[in-house]
Amino acid sequence: MQMTQTESYIRAAHLDDVRKVGRLVVAIAGHTVLLIHVDDKVYAVDNRCPHMGFPLHRGTIQDCILTCDWHYARFDLMSGGTFDPWADDLPAFPVQIRDHEVWIDLAAPADSFAHHRQRLQDGLEQGIPLVISKSVIALLHQGNNATEAFRMGLDFGVRYRQSGWDTGLTIHTCMMNLLPYLDAEDKPRAIYHGLAAVARDTSDQPPRFPIQPLPQSDNPEKVPILQTWFRQFVEVRDTKGAERCLASAIRAGASQTQLAQMLFTVVTDHRYIDVGHPLDFTNKALEALDATDWHNAELVLTSLVSSYTSATRMEESRSWRSPVDLVAILQQAFKTVPVSLAEGKKQQGSWVGNGNLCDSTYRDRLLPILLGNDAQAIVDVLLTALRQGCAEVELAGTVTEAAALRIAQFSTNNDFNDWDSAHHTFTFANAVHQGMRRVASLELLRAVFDAAMSIYLDRFLNVPAARLPKPDKTVENPAELLHELPELLDRQQQVNRVGELVGCYLYSGGEPKQLLALLGKLLLREDRQFHVIQEIEAAFCQYSRLGNSTGGINVLVAASRYLAAHTPTMRSQEQTYQMADRLHRGDRLFEDVN
Ligand code: FES
Repeated sequence: MQMTQTESYIRAAHLDDVRKVGRLVVAIAGHTVLLIHVDDKVYAVDNRCPHMGFPLHRGTIQDCILTCDWHYARFDLMSGGTFDPWADDLPAFPVQIRDHEVWIDLAAPADSFAHHRQRLQDGLEQGIPLVISKSVIALLHQGNNATEAFRMGLDFGVRYRQSGWDTGLTIHTCMMNLLPYLDAEDKPRAIYHGLAAVARDTSDQPPRFPIQPLPQSDNPEKVPILQTWFRQFVEVRDTKGAERCLASAIRAGASQTQLAQMLFTVVTDHRYIDVGHPLDFTNKALEALDATDWHNAELVLTSLVSSYTSATRMEESRSWRSPVDLVAILQQAFKTVPVSLAEGKKQQGSWVGNGNLCDSTYRDRLLPILLGNDAQAIVDVLLTALRQGCAEVELAGTVTEAAALRIAQFSTNNDFNDWDSAHHTFTFANAVHQGMRRVASLELLRAVFDAAMSIYLDRFLNVPAARLPKPDKTVENPAELLHELPELLDRQQQVNRVGELVGCYLYSGGEPKQLLALLGKLLLREDRQFHVIQEIEAAFCQYSRLGNSTGGINVLVAASRYLAAHTPTMRSQEQTYQMADRLHRGDRLFEDVN
């Protein structure tokens, strides 16, 4: 068919041709358009059903409603709007009849950014993954709008879940953090997974009505007393009182460091609360604010409070009390931490190479003690390290390495659920480490000791210990190993082989960026659960610090083993995403049906 274009309208067909058959499919400018003649009028719509691409010329029309004959989604023929939101709106094109010719306007909506933003909001509100994925693909295609899509999800998540921050927003922030490691094609996929998790987490939940700050809160001099009250209220599990203190401190102009310190103090006033989740959530909320220039900090940070006040405290846990009273050991140690730190401060800058516990040589001595069978010895070695001038943040990093080793050496003879124990310790330790980089406070330092005690409690998970990959076991062409990885993760029970492969690839000089991008891709193709996402994100974060050292390689070995233990899954989310991507690209999904 010959095409003629004036303004944004394109000649599509002769009117008589449409009238004669009632429905005519034409291919114009990359679109497959369905022209429909009803009641002496012509309508033009995309011939691909926005749900899954079924050809709509095979649908049914009644009373100006077009029904797709596949899953029976219904569309207003005039506007394309759907009566079944799960299917999404159908693109409809303005029509003009000029000299018995049908002309249609295929131009995109004038403000397509606002349009896709609104569709994303609709997708979040109605919990429709297909609409979310389409909007994200369109928004990111239009430019670097990942931050805008992320901010929308963050705002939505903290507003529409009465009990506040949870796994959905944590996944959302993990996905944002993963973006720098991913291939370009996987970045919208990651944002989609994060937003879909927020939508799931808020689905059928009552909204949050945040508490207002105290009157006359814009007084910076009140920050110290608000910090004190906040701590007291969390201690007695008074959620509303604590929320009001925090909101008031933000309104009073507390700095980002003061706020981080307030939160990390209350979340470490008791031992390893809720197996580390509230501290990890806190770190993630702060990272989410970093990504959005601390937009909406009041709503974001107050959403954490109920996770503090409702948490189980390990003082109440049998395993932390007997047969060894770990809480008593820690409380005793905390009394001596200030003195150890003060002694260490005098030595900082001079400890490297002095034969003490924290330089690179002695790190190898610290790790076996952290992974050992003596809780008191573990606490003692941490205090010694501080006394010898080891910086708090470095100590937190070493403890995180030890936690990763529990997973790298996790025995596949364990009960499957035991993966979670080792995982909780590692992601907690990583969050403590990241928090320590933000604010190295005495209070947060307690969590380094907590993480060390959790590593101690997890020691049975390494009996027998899985073998770590050996540095001298290398191959000539490590790139070939990467071809094997997707196929291995298509099968169950490949934990040890995957760990060996990742270690061998890196010890053989394989390009780390390619491995990280591939692990990210393999994570995103799965319907993986919350912990797998946390695990990969924390491992990438640690690897970016440790680089291709033995510690860095072991962290990636640990994460890839964890991923292998939890794959393959149904991959239904990937199917939805691929459908959205193909619809966005204009693919004719069911050409053979035509
Ligand atoms: S309703 Fe049209 S493809 Fe599902």
